[in-house]
Order: sequence, then structure tokens, then C-alpha cells
Amino acid sequence: MEFSTSTIPLLLSPLLVIFLIRAILKVLLRPGCGRRGSLPLPPGTMGWPYVGETFQLYSQNPNVFFLSKQARYGPIFKTHILGCPCVMISSPEAAKFVLVTKSHLFKPTFPASKERMLGKQAIFFHQGEYHTKLRKLVLRAFLPDAIRSKVSDIEPIAANCLQCLEGRVVNTFQEMKTYAFNVALLSIFGKDEVKYREDLKRCYYVLEKGYNSMPVNLPGTLFHKSMKARKELANILEKIILTRRQMKLDHNDLLGSFMSGSEGLTDDQIADNVIGVIFAARDTTASVMTWIIKYLAENPTVLRAVTEEQEAVKRRKYVEEDGGKWKLTWEDTKNMPLTSRVIQETLRVASILSFTFREAVEDVEYEGFLIPKGWKVLPLFRNIHHSPDNFPDPEKFDPSRFEVAPKPNTYLPFGNGVHSCPGNELAKLEILVLLHHLTTKYRWSLMGSQDGIQYAPFALPQNGLPMELSLKT
Ligand code: HEM
Repeated sequence: MEFSTSTIPLLLSPLLVIFLIRAILKVLLRPGCGRRGSLPLPPGTMGWPYVGETFQLYSQNPNVFFLSKQARYGPIFKTHILGCPCVMISSPEAAKFVLVTKSHLFKPTFPASKERMLGKQAIFFHQGEYHTKLRKLVLRAFLPDAIRSKVSDIEPIAANCLQCLEGRVVNTFQEMKTYAFNVALLSIFGKDEVKYREDLKRCYYVLEKGYNSMPVNLPGTLFHKSMKARKELANILEKIILTRRQMKLDHNDLLGSFMSGSEGLTDDQIADNVIGVIFAARDTTASVMTWIIKYLAENPTVLRAVTEEQEAVKRRKYVEEDGGKWKLTWEDTKNMPLTSRVIQETLRVASILSFTFREAVEDVEYEGFLIPKGWKVLPLFRNIHHSPDNFPDPEKFDPSRFEVAPKPNTYLPFGNGVHSCPGNELAKLEILVLLHHLTTKYRWSLMGSQDGIQYAPFALPQNGLPMELSLKT
């Protein structure tokens, strides 16, 4: 049968009517439609088609973008970044709503390339049952009771790291990355797999270069090289897992937890999550340590007080252990209140994770505004940490402000809710141990200009903070 041009409109009109009815029904039957359908979107601008306001965000310090938007539109505003419509939120209440009370309505979301490189089964990308199971296994390895025995293994790593820097001008961030990497490997594999350390390091260093690359898997591309390194890393892990299965020994580390009993994971799930934890543990902790070294150098009164606190720990150990070769213990690290406040204040001022990403899984109403299904939602940690309502004189580095506990939901360096950081105790522990050795044995001076900040992607002092470290005489 053939259609003449005059029959097409006749045929199209019933099709068009059906299409329109279906479209209207789809909108009307959408969960929460009706009242929610009539809600306004949050205030703000969406910029140019597709590119949105990406250039405005990335052509300057991103915090300038966030702060100016917040000043103009208030604590909840819409924008359009990297092809995605977004709602940004900067009040403690809204952050609690997204991350805690209604966390089931907001799923974690990452760029596809990152998901492929870390591995689809890594903890960050999941919600629900699988996420709960993973989180239990991860927490089992990182809760205080599990890491308290690691102090004696972390201490030599810290001491060696600093010893290697003596008398040299170094890129602080790079050196802290090595330290954080070695502690991460210790917490994942214990001391047994030291022999694989250099191979793991070599593969991981190639892998991480591709984290922010275009996901084009063709020979010669960064992405391709990274995926190859990822495969090699998974092979090394397979070897370690096989050896452990043959030895049938229990291990008090993350890999042991992943492999344990009936809750154990498949080899692929283990590989994705081991790579994921290295990713989560290393650059974050290294950035924070770099900022602490900078703030201490710039605040001599605070440095003096921290040094006195650490010298007192050292003297106490010296007497207790009869002048012998002393070792730090978990209890010692719990007895460093001023140093701990310096860490807290650094986490606030530097806010190395300025924000996180979620995606609305359905239309959500918040404070009379509609957050449409599929839109990205960004709780802006840095804005919350730098609001004078939450922290008076917020730009000032003042550890004493933590002598009083911050107001609820105003202090989120490790996030909040079901996806909050399970490694926070380990991060604080390794920083305390390093600071003990740094302040009791060394002095350091910063080199070059100290004003710039780079985003890689975490906020970091310009050029990784070059410094010269020397032994105290
Ligand atoms: C000072 C250093 C660190 C900071 C500032 C930090 C910060 C964070 C934040 C803000 C989140 C939540 C992200 C979100 O809600 O989207 C997070 C999640 C996570 N962190 Fe950390 N982190 C640090 C160190 C570590 C360490 C040392 C480990 C492991 C040993 C670790 C493992 C993880 C994991 C596995 C998650 C994902 C949890 C989940 O999705 O359930 N982090 N981290």
C-alpha cells in the first residue's frame, strides 16, 4: 500500500493525539505530580544551552562562583554545569535533608570515566543492600578498635618518610601522597604484602593519571593506558587473594574483611573496592597534611603550642619507658587535644572537598521548591564551613574555636549520613603520628609564593607547597 502526501496528515493526526495523550498522562502520573508539578524551581540561572555555566565555574576559583551565587539567590539555587542541570545547596539543614534524612531520594553520581576506572562495584556508586554490606565490611577494618593496633606500624612509615626529606627542598604534597599511599596499603593488606608495594604503586600511579581523562579506549590514549594499568593491578590483587586463600589465615585488615566468611565478596568486587579505597584515602589525606604544614608555618604561636604538646608526649614516654626506645600508642594519640584541634580547623578552613554530588531519583520538594528527578544536587561543604553564621570570622585559622563543639550539621569535612567517610579515624590517626615526628624532630621553611591555590581536584597550596625540611639541632 502506498500513501499519497494528502493522506499523511490524516494518518498523523490520530497518532499525534495518542502521542500527546501519552505524554500528558506520563507527566500527570509522575510520582509527586499535581502539587509538586506546580512547584517552582529554585532561583538561579541556567546559562547557555548545553554548556550552561560551566565556564563561569571553571574559569576562576570555583568558590567565587559558589559564594557569588549564594549571595545573589540564597542557600538553594539552580545552575547548569557540564551538561547537567544542578541544584546547589549551602545551608546545614539542606545538607542534612539530602545526605541524611532523605538520602534514599538522592543517589551518588560520578562521571562515567571515573566509574569505569575505579570499577562499577566500588562502594561510592551504590545505595541499598549492596552498599550496606560493603560499608559494614569497610567499617570493620577502619573503626577505632580495628586500627588502634596499627599505630606501631604507621609510626615507622611516618618516621622514614620524614627522614627521606631531611635537608632537601621537596614538593610537600607529593611526599605526603607517598606517605598516605603507604599507610593505605598497610590498612588494606597489613604488613604481609610489602613485596608487592612497588608494583602496586607503579600500576596505581599510571591508573590515576586517567581519572579525569576522556573515556576513549584507543591505544595511545591516557584512558587506554590507565585501563591497562587497572587490569595489571587487578592481576596483582588476584595473586594476593589466591595466596591468602591457600594459607587459610585470618587477617586483621581491609582485604581480610572483604574476604571474610559468608559475607565475602567476589574477586572483581574486591578489586573495585581496593582501588576505590586507595583513591579515597590518598590524595584527600595528603592534601590535608599539606595544608596543616602550611598553616603551622604561617602561625608560629600555634606551631609552638603544638610542639610543646608533642614534646610533652615524648617526655612522658621517655620517663615511662625508662629512657628506652619508646613507641607511640593509640592512647597517646587520643591525648593530643591541641594537635587534634589544628587538624579540625585545617579541615574546616581548607575544605578540601568543597562539595559532593548526588542525583535526585524522583521529583523532590524542598522548602517549597522542586528538585526535579535526574537533576544533580550539590551540598556545598565549603560554603557551610565558611559561613559566619556557623563559624565567626570564618577566614581566620583559629584552632581554639573547636574548644566548643560546632553546631549540628555545620561541620562536614567527612560528609554526613550513609556515605560519610568510613576512613576518618585512620586519616586523623596517620596525621597525628606524622605531626608528632615532624614537630618534635624538625623545622621547616616554605619556599616561593604562598598565596595561590590549585584544584587537583582537591584544593591544594600552589605547586604542592615547596618546603625545606631540616633536623632540629
Ligand atoms: C582527611 C582525609 C579524608 C577526607 C577529608 C575524606 C572525606 C570524605 C568525604 C567527604 C566522603 C563522603 C563523600 C560523599 O558523601 O559523597 C568520604 C567518603 C569515603 N571515604 Fe573518605 N576522606 C578522607 C580519608 C579517607 C581514608 C583515609 C579512607 C580509607 C582508608 C577513606 C575512605 C572513604 C570511602 C571508602 C568513602 C565512601 C563511603 C561510602 O560511599 O559509603 N577516606 N570521604
